This record gives sequence, C-alpha cells and structure tokens, in this order.
Amino acid sequence: MTPHPATAPAADSGPTPEPAAEPAPATDPAAAVRRRARAALETARLRTLALTDCLDDDGLTAQHSPLMSPLVWDLAHIGNQEEIWLVRAAGGRPPLRPDLDPLYDAFQHPRAERPALPLLSPDQARAYAAEVRDQSLNVLAEAPLTSTAATTATPTGPPTDPLPGPLLDRGFVFGMLAQHEQQHDETMLATHQLRQGPPVLEAPAPPPAPADAALLPPEVLVPGGPFEMGTSTDPWALDNERPAHRVDLPAFRLDTTPVSNRAYLDFVQDGGYADPRWWSPQGWAHRQRERLEAPLFWLRDGDRWLRRRFGRTEPLPADQPVVHVCWYEADAYARWAGRRLPTEAEWEKAARHDPATGRALRHPWGDQDPDPAHANLGQRHLEPAPVGSYPDGAAPCGARQLLGDVWEWTSTGFTGYPGFTAFPYREYSEVFFGGDYKVLRGGSFGTDPVACRSTFRNWDLPVRRQIFAGFRTAADGPPERS
Ligand SMILES: [Fe+2]
Repeated sequence: MTPHPATAPAADSGPTPEPAAEPAPATDPAAAVRRRARAALETARLRTLALTDCLDDDGLTAQHSPLMSPLVWDLAHIGNQEEIWLVRAAGGRPPLRPDLDPLYDAFQHPRAERPALPLLSPDQARAYAAEVRDQSLNVLAEAPLTSTAATTATPTGPPTDPLPGPLLDRGFVFGMLAQHEQQHDETMLATHQLRQGPPVLEAPAPPPAPADAALLPPEVLVPGGPFEMGTSTDPWALDNERPAHRVDLPAFRLDTTPVSNRAYLDFVQDGGYADPRWWSPQGWAHRQRERLEAPLFWLRDGDRWLRRRFGRTEPLPADQPVVHVCWYEADAYARWAGRRLPTEAEWEKAARHDPATGRALRHPWGDQDPDPAHANLGQRHLEPAPVGSYPDGAAPCGARQLLGDVWEWTSTGFTGYPGFTAFPYREYSEVFFGGDYKVLRGGSFGTDPVACRSTFRNWDLPVRRQIFAGFRTAADGPPERS
C-alpha cells in the first residue's frame, strides 16, 4: 500500500517490547475490546518510538530516498490521522491541531515534496503524537464499543462528519489506527533499509530451518472447488477485505515455500535479466530503462554475491526467501521457471481454506493469534527466515510461510470485491482500485500481527522494490478426476 500501508524495532534492543496486559473480566465484551485495543495501540507506539529514537534530529528530518518521507513526517502523520479519526470523528472531541491537517495529508503532498514542508520538529512531533494518544485513551475508556451497526453498510463521509457508531463498533477505529501506525512503522523500516550510514537497528537472527525443510515437496496441490474469500465478520478487517464472497477455482499447484535467493540466483546466472523472452513488454522496458540486473540491495563481489541489510554488508543467504524484487522481476522469474504468479484468489484459498471442514480460517494454521512458532512477523527479526521454516504455521494444503517473512506478489490488480463499500473514507483503498497496482499478500518480517491475516490485502506499483516483497510461483493443477 503505497500511501497508507507504509512499515521497525528497537535501535539496540531487538524486538519491540510487549506492553503490559491490563486485566479485565473475561465475560465483559466491551472490556475485552478495550484491552485488545489498548494493547494494539501501545505496541504500535513502542515500535514507532523505537524506529525514531535511534536517529538524531538530522537523521529524522533528512529524506533518505525520494521514494520515502522524512521519518519525522511519518511520526506526526501518525498522530494527525489518530487525531482526525479517533479523537474527532469517533470521540466527538474538539480538534487539537487542525492547522496540521493539510501538512500531513498524504494526498496533498507526494513523498518527494514533504521535506520542503514546514514540518514539526522531532521533539514537537513526539509531543503532538503523545498529546493525541492521551486523548485517544480517554476516548477508549469512555466510548461505547459494542454497537452492532454494520460497518460495511454505512455511507462514507469526510472526517468532519463523525460516524461514531460504526467507527466504534467492536473497537474498529482503534484497530484501524493501530494498523495504520504499524503500516507506517513498516514503511519507516523500509526507510531505514534505504538509509546510508552505520547500522542502528538490531535484532536476533531468525532460527535455522527445521530438519524437514530440505525434504519438503517443491509444490502443493490445492484441489478445485469453492471457498470463502474475504470476510464480513472480522471486526478489525478493513474495507477492502470485505465482504465475504464465494469463489470457485480450478485446481492449481503452488510452491510450498517462497522462492529462495538460491533459486533466484539461478535465474540471474542463467541470463534471465538479459533475455526478453521471460519479461512482459512493460517489464522488459522497465528493466532496460532502470538497468536492473539483480534484486535491490544485492552486490556482486567477484564470483559471489553480497547483500546490504540495514547498514550491514553480508554474504547473500542462499536459503532465505528472495526479497526486494519488483512485480516485473517476479513475473519474469516465474515465466523462466515455466510457471506463473498465483492469482490473489489462489493465494487466499491456499492460505485459508480448510478442506476438512469447508471453513475459511483466519490464519493458515487456524483462528488463533500468531505466536513466534507460527510466523516471522512483528520485526522480531530483521530478515526473512530460511525457506521451509515455521512448520507450526503451515496451511492445510501444506504450504509454509504464507504469513510473515516476505510479502508475496500476486498476478492480480487491486480492485474491490463484489459488494464493496468504502469505509470510513474512499482514500483508504477505493481510489487505488483499477490502477496499475498489484496485490501483495501475507505480510513480511516487518509486518505486525495486528495488520496481518489471511484476508489482509496490500498493493503497490509493479516497479516498487524497496518494500519487503518476494513471491512464490504457481501452475495450473491436474484435471479433476471424475
Ligand atoms: Fe497514512
């Protein structure tokens, strides 16, 4: 998600610390929503501060890439969106700093222009975001949260038209703002990856691949038939994930794991970047114009390859998923391999459909929240885990690492599901429908669990490589036996 999806842990302390849980009676639904909302907001803020406190003011106000905002813009924008939607629209409270709205409106100012704006200083931005958060927590403490109003059936309106009922339904607006902040945290993590200079982020390496990783079949078969795509019931699902609808797919085969650096290097060394047969016409033109020869951040060193990762240069790990490839590169690799990218529906069916029950699961492993045995999420690590990791997070079809590690490009353009209704504002996703955007699925090592589930949809332009994106390939399945 280019403007709003956007995604970093501690400067020197590894994974983001967990906020303390607030005890509440398990029988009180509103208290449970309040507890979940408060924890999600606090987790997001700890990460935001960890990603910004590790740099000095020059590092926060500099533009490290024309593709990205100065980090101080993200910081105040996070506070401003929270003020607009949570404090004003949902809480019905008077504005704190309405003068800031135009400065931090992502649609009024493209990223390249933002350094020239009269932005708040780092200290001012921190103080503003904290002041808004105090107000938000007051709203959270006082607002009714158990309205049964259907968020997808509500007309949209500008932020000046408060829609407190639907916004507050089961704490939606708190979940929306926690996801928004985490998406910007992932974007800020991408800014750190683009930043020149010594490392400032630290995290432990992911665990080694499990013993059975080398024995996994290269692909899994997903039988033909219908499944439920999208959701009408997940209380914090965003408008573009709604509503649930039935999709019938023929059988297909899908890579068991994301494509590895080793496999991708075969494509590079086979001359894949020099052979237009493998590229779409637009992809070939882009490859030539930009002189692409390997994924972003790969460096050739004689006969070996290195990569740059958050200020470090290190040998390319052959068994990790390839990352920092654009859609055109993923598409070309798949054609070279005699395969294709999966459609978005194929990806979601592989990640959700349980043939034993016919149910659509919230996550590949079931409905329970992610834990560290399921997936590489939440910036616990600063790199993907080896392919074949996380057997406990496997989907019913046998595919692994569908959530976490790397976003996965699909062949599908971004559009609304049948019956889509924008909520709470068209600019969240509807204005991107039908453009050149390609859907990405599954989240990366830099995606927080609150913004990652098997229905979650991300999108970006097919040329983008700074995001933590890789892919897996698919092929048509064998005909069904009758
Ligand atoms: Fe945003």
